[in-house]
Amino acid sequence: MNSPKILDGKSVAAAVLDECRAETAELLTKGIQPGLAVVLIGSDPASQVYVGSKARTCAELGFHSLKIELPAETTQEELLQVVRDLNADPAIHGILVQSPPPKHIDEEAVIREIDPRKDVDGFHPENVAKLVLEDPSGFVPCTPAGCMKLLEVSGINTNGAEAVVIGRSMIVGKPMALLLVSKISNATVTIAHSRSKDLPAICRRADILVAAVGRPEMVKADWVKPGAVVIDVGINRVPDPSKKSGYRLTGDVAYQEVAPLCSAITPVPGGVGPMTIAMLMKNTLQAARQLS
Ligand code: GUN
Repeated sequence: MNSPKILDGKSVAAAVLDECRAETAELLTKGIQPGLAVVLIGSDPASQVYVGSKARTCAELGFHSLKIELPAETTQEELLQVVRDLNADPAIHGILVQSPPPKHIDEEAVIREIDPRKDVDGFHPENVAKLVLEDPSGFVPCTPAGCMKLLEVSGINTNGAEAVVIGRSMIVGKPMALLLVSKISNATVTIAHSRSKDLPAICRRADILVAAVGRPEMVKADWVKPGAVVIDVGINRVPDPSKKSGYRLTGDVAYQEVAPLCSAITPVPGGVGPMTIAMLMKNTLQAARQLS
């Protein structure tokens, strides 16, 4: 049995946050305190955990942090007004509206309302365009940016590699594919999804396989080419009565059977998850620099 390199997102994220801490200190000497506002609508337990850890990381770095928790019944217009107020607030450089919002909210319209210069999620059409154009003044969505950083610091060569991304979301799949195919990374990219014909066969082509579907342990051993690099973006809660919480976290990859085949793999938790928050802090610093 092969033993794969475990891509340790916790330690890479800690190094990114150290850089962020140093840059924050430098900005503070110029009288600029980076400010991030996180808006949560409703009380989805997983979203509450993510929002809490974003606010905590802000505090650790010395950011100004604003956590706005709105009831599930908040109307579209009320939410748009919250965004407009944050757009106008000079102490706020980054605005993040936690996804998914309740069903009655038109998320697209909310994203379009965010000032693109404060859109640290990189979801606004202006930032999506900049990603396509490879314009570095735009914001790159945090999760795919974190995956790329993990590949880079782990010395994984994407040049000419066959990459397969499973999932076509605007948060992960599509931007991940764009980053892999960019002139910096030079991978050959396939985007696969729930309607793809013979998904296991497509995945078996991959030198780099990125799973971002939100289905626990969907990627099995016979989907993976021996020696592949596997990036597992999934964070799924599955019921587990042996845990105090009543659930355990698992990725989109059947880790136990897949890991022995890989040259490198991200664990869940402790792989991509911590990278997402670290890249959000980096994006907020970019916003603070660009707005000041
Ligand atoms: N929900 C899951 N991931 C994300 C993210 O990166 N940004 C936002 N706004 N919501 C999310």
